[in-house]
Amino acid sequence: MTVLLECKELTHHYEDPLHHQAGVFDISFTLNKGHRLGLVGESGSGKSTIAKILSRFLNIQEGSVQFLEQSLTTYSDHDFYKKVQYISQQPQEAFHPKRTIQASLEEVCHNFKICRNNEEMQTYIGRLLQKVGLSFDHARQFPHQLSGGECQRMAIARALLVQPDLLICDEITSALDVTVQEGVMEVLQDIQQTSQTSFLFISHDIALVSQFCDEIIVLKDGQIQEKGLMSDVLSNPQSEYTKMLMKPYQKEGREL
Ligand SMILES: Nc1ncnc2c1ncn2[C@@H]1O[C@H](COP(=O)(O)OP(=O)(O)OP(=O)(O)O)[C@@H](O)[C@H]1O
Ligand SMILES: [Mg+2]
Repeated sequence: MTVLLECKELTHHYEDPLHHQAGVFDISFTLNKGHRLGLVGESGSGKSTIAKILSRFLNIQEGSVQFLEQSLTTYSDHDFYKKVQYISQQPQEAFHPKRTIQASLEEVCHNFKICRNNEEMQTYIGRLLQKVGLSFDHARQFPHQLSGGECQRMAIARALLVQPDLLICDEITSALDVTVQEGVMEVLQDIQQTSQTSFLFISHDIALVSQFCDEIIVLKDGQIQEKGLMSDVLSNPQSEYTKMLMKPYQKEGREL
């Protein structure tokens, strides 16, 4: 099994005017190639902080991260973002507000030298649009002209352009209503089944995480409460906090 990502004793302190401890502390885990790791915890538990460190939007203060056996810090931006893509809750952030979506997608193709000529690029983009259930009619729009769900599908298509090894999805369905959320999750399922892409899938919703991921980390106040195989953690949760997160679903008799 190939280890894709290895985090060791990662700590990030934020400057907090009220002198509260904020950030993440002593985070260690590994993610193997092709696996889907869920990161779950309540608001403020540190999920996005970990996502941002792993996407290099925040510097590593303490600890280390190896990506494909190489320190995260030693990659050039080009080499790194060819392998790792981040998708956020605000899909519009992935696009230039004053350019059509298509222009933004083409820019990625140019920057990463993905296609040899324009014809090849249009075919490639067309194929990815189809994969996320959209068309060139959508791509000709500006980001603000798409619905939240359409824009999120576009952000996924954009991230897929480089055929990344790792997709970091930070609450990507939180702003969407339930049916649109299901559509986006189907797109992720399809990616998972048709490629070797690994996922760090972040959500406050343990039910959603349990449906998509094979491993889970439960985070509280910046610290790992529990981690392991999804089936093990759900069938025999060790921490009270995990039990608390699972309770609403069990009460409703919903499957986890
Ligand atoms: N730039 C910042 N400066 C200071 N404190 C911050 C900053 N960003 C986050 N924090 C604090 O760090 C903690 C973790 O925040 P983080 O955004 O990682 O949580 P989260 O689990 O992603 O929450 P949510 O589910 O609401 O997105 C919180 O207490 C938050 O207030
Ligand atoms: Mg967050």
